[in-house]
Amino acid sequence: MKVLLVGSGGREHAIAWKLAKSERVSKIFVAPGNGGTAIENKCENVNITDIDELVVFARENNIELTFVGPEDPLTKGITDKFKAAGLRCFGPDSKGAQLEGSKAFSKDFMKKYGVKTAQYGTFTECDEAKGYLENCEYPIVIKADGLAAGKGVVIAETKEEAMKTIDDFMISDIFKGAGQKVVIEEFLEGVEASILSITDGKTLIPFISGKDHKQIFDGDKGPNTGGMGVLAPNPFVTEDVMKDFEENIVANTLKGIQEEGFDFKGIIFFGLMITKKGTYLLEYNVRMGDPETQSVLTLMESDLVDLVEAALEGRLHEVEVKWYDGACVNVVLASKGYPGTFEKGFEITIDESIKDKVFLAGAQLVDGVLRTSGGRVLSVVGRGRSIQEAREEAYKLTEMVNFEGKYFRRDI
Ligand code: AMP
Ligand code: GLY
Repeated sequence: MKVLLVGSGGREHAIAWKLAKSERVSKIFVAPGNGGTAIENKCENVNITDIDELVVFARENNIELTFVGPEDPLTKGITDKFKAAGLRCFGPDSKGAQLEGSKAFSKDFMKKYGVKTAQYGTFTECDEAKGYLENCEYPIVIKADGLAAGKGVVIAETKEEAMKTIDDFMISDIFKGAGQKVVIEEFLEGVEASILSITDGKTLIPFISGKDHKQIFDGDKGPNTGGMGVLAPNPFVTEDVMKDFEENIVANTLKGIQEEGFDFKGIIFFGLMITKKGTYLLEYNVRMGDPETQSVLTLMESDLVDLVEAALEGRLHEVEVKWYDGACVNVVLASKGYPGTFEKGFEITIDESIKDKVFLAGAQLVDGVLRTSGGRVLSVVGRGRSIQEAREEAYKLTEMVNFEGKYFRRDI
């Protein structure tokens, strides 16, 4: 089977690596891909990002399955266009993708179907948002409605900070439209967990949970990043949490998907906050997490192509996903200076023996040499029978990859 994978991050390298393991896959085109997918088994990068051009490519190259990595093309309707062209595409339709594409839409959906989530209000007028902020409790959470490359959420500790955030989002328009509508919500205190899942719209199978580490420095200090490392399974996701999650979040989400009539055959990533008052849904993502995917797919023993096909054919109720009985620790190696400014173009060297445990993200193959091209350059993934074993393995791996300015957290 020839597969087309859309995207260019560390997540996509991990997906490509996992798809390549399937005996049923002969070739994977990655659009546009990165330095990792350029050298991965069975993979070839193709420099296309336009959705209509991807449809043409898939048709001309007899692609049997398209897997969409990031949210952006999903919200722009890539699945709808592939479907209209008679092509199989894994990912929700554009309506379903609004669960990630619009915070106001997703919060309204959660409320309508009784999914447990923080109290909130939606505002399109600056004065009304500010009026609300005059009398609310602090800290308060302010979210830009649209996609803002992971930067659209501010936890304001004070009224001044909250007012400034509203000015930035609604007046200065720093997200070019995405912050013209805002969600203001109750601050929840607790521990976060990422649960990715696969769904065919009727059945939803949760994957192994993960614990991301968002801040740049050890001890969760410093500015937020896209994620500096993931521990899986997440030690805070107990059986009780899973029960709460299944009963108060998953069941209602599926009911909503069906009643709203979304064509949702894809991934749902639940961003959870585990609090003293139970487990709350912070957000839906309609794609896999980055860097959660690198850990979760390393633990998955089932064939990913079989799973995706079962979802596309509405057969997930027949499927059982098999997992490695142990843990994974994924440590992100970043460019010095990230998430602020950093230099690019440094050569990356990877010990040949560990290629299978390294997922490249901000890296390009330039004239046969791997070079840094982004903030989060790559992930190394350690796997072991216990978290301790996995962690030791991951930190050993960090020493076997080198580039100038290599930075990573020591406490994943
Ligand atoms: P989101 O994109 O909605 O997941 O928000 C990004 C990050 O902001 C989350 O991973 C949390 O760390 C934080 N966050 C979002 N909503 C809340 C909330 N209601 N209470 C506390 N923290 C939150
Ligand atoms: N690691 C968080 C995300 O992918 O959104």
